[in-house]
Amino acid sequence: MTDLAATLRHGLADALAAEDWVTDPLWRGAVEATPRENFLGQALYKPSEPPGPTTWTPVRRDSIAPEDWLALAYEDTTWVTQIDGILAEDAPGPLTGAPTSSSTLPGLVAQMIERSGAAPADRVLEIGTGTGYSTALLCHGLGEHNVTSIEVDPHAADRARKALADTGHTPTLITGDGLRGHPGGAPYDRVIATCAMRHIPYGLLRQIRPGGTLLVTLAGWSFGHGLVRLTVDDNGGASGRFLPGYTSFMIARAHDRPPHGPFELLPGERRPSRIDPAILDDWAGRFVAQLAVPSAERLGLGTEQILLDVATGSQARTRRAQDSDGWTVEQRGPVRLWDAVEDAVETWQRAGSPHPSEFGLTITPDAQRVWLGTPDGPSWALPI
Ligand SMILES: C[S@@+](CC[C@H](N)C(=O)[O-])C[C@H]1O[C@@H](n2cnc3c(N)ncnc32)[C@H](O)[C@@H]1O
Repeated sequence: MTDLAATLRHGLADALAAEDWVTDPLWRGAVEATPRENFLGQALYKPSEPPGPTTWTPVRRDSIAPEDWLALAYEDTTWVTQIDGILAEDAPGPLTGAPTSSSTLPGLVAQMIERSGAAPADRVLEIGTGTGYSTALLCHGLGEHNVTSIEVDPHAADRARKALADTGHTPTLITGDGLRGHPGGAPYDRVIATCAMRHIPYGLLRQIRPGGTLLVTLAGWSFGHGLVRLTVDDNGGASGRFLPGYTSFMIARAHDRPPHGPFELLPGERRPSRIDPAILDDWAGRFVAQLAVPSAERLGLGTEQILLDVATGSQARTRRAQDSDGWTVEQRGPVRLWDAVEDAVETWQRAGSPHPSEFGLTITPDAQRVWLGTPDGPSWALPI
């Protein structure tokens, strides 16, 4: 079985290299050396096929043949290990709910480590230990004395600590809120987040040395995502561009939407919509809409979008028009959410509807702004 695991590991590394997910021999070697099966615990969740709400079925390691378990471990797939705080090994049966921890697909975590610029002797802070797999890659490449990783969920953190120790790695592991970083280990050369953020906490930024980098997925409550690499400057700020690709992560727990009960959609002012609301289903379209209304939660789909502003209670609801080929929007409350979305989407469409990699982020001591094209182009403030 050890031979089979080694063969599958090398096969995975070859596949990642062939598809350019890893190009640096350092990180290819880390994939070849890291037994992912050690990090999947005793069970993982398999998702149901679309359409319909996803059901997560626990698959226990002892319920399938050892070689089938290894085959799952070496798929370049994200395996969800926790739903709404319930680890797969503790699940009583299939569940519906939101993933709260996972082993991200190996190709993506290896690529992120490469994209962060992490090199031997760098001190790295990882936010979102999860299963510990990416932490193990970092330990292999940089040495465990250079690696600190933070996990907010105590059950996931305990599990990762054990898996790392069983694999021979004892980096600094912190159980706590990674949005606060770990000042005791600062300054870091690289910070890599495998959970997403709505904005960049200044306290975290201050733990990175000038010239160091932060790689993080910017996300929000409209489910827009953009992976950005920021370089820290000497003045308490940072800047950088969003990167190509389609990277999404679960949002950092303290940055998630506040919980709310059932809501009522109330009547408001109705008018024709200037844009097709279905643009919010597009990867870049929802990234742009989210920039325009960062405190709005998006519900709905296609032409029937619903925005609920968490800060003010403002609402917007779109529909297909009854008497034309167009669409209508109904808005109420102090913030005209759809007006802001239309302005941002039209600005983006005039620029040719580019991917988020045409955007950048500049952080100064008093503002965080995402811009389109160049730093002096159209820009939107992040909710800090
Ligand atoms: C996608 S998983 C991480 C995958 C992991 N790097 C791996 O390779 O297995 C995201 C993790 O971030 C954690 N997380 C969420 N919010 C966090 C926060 N504020 N601080 C630290 N970890 C957080 C989640 O509990 C989850 O385990």
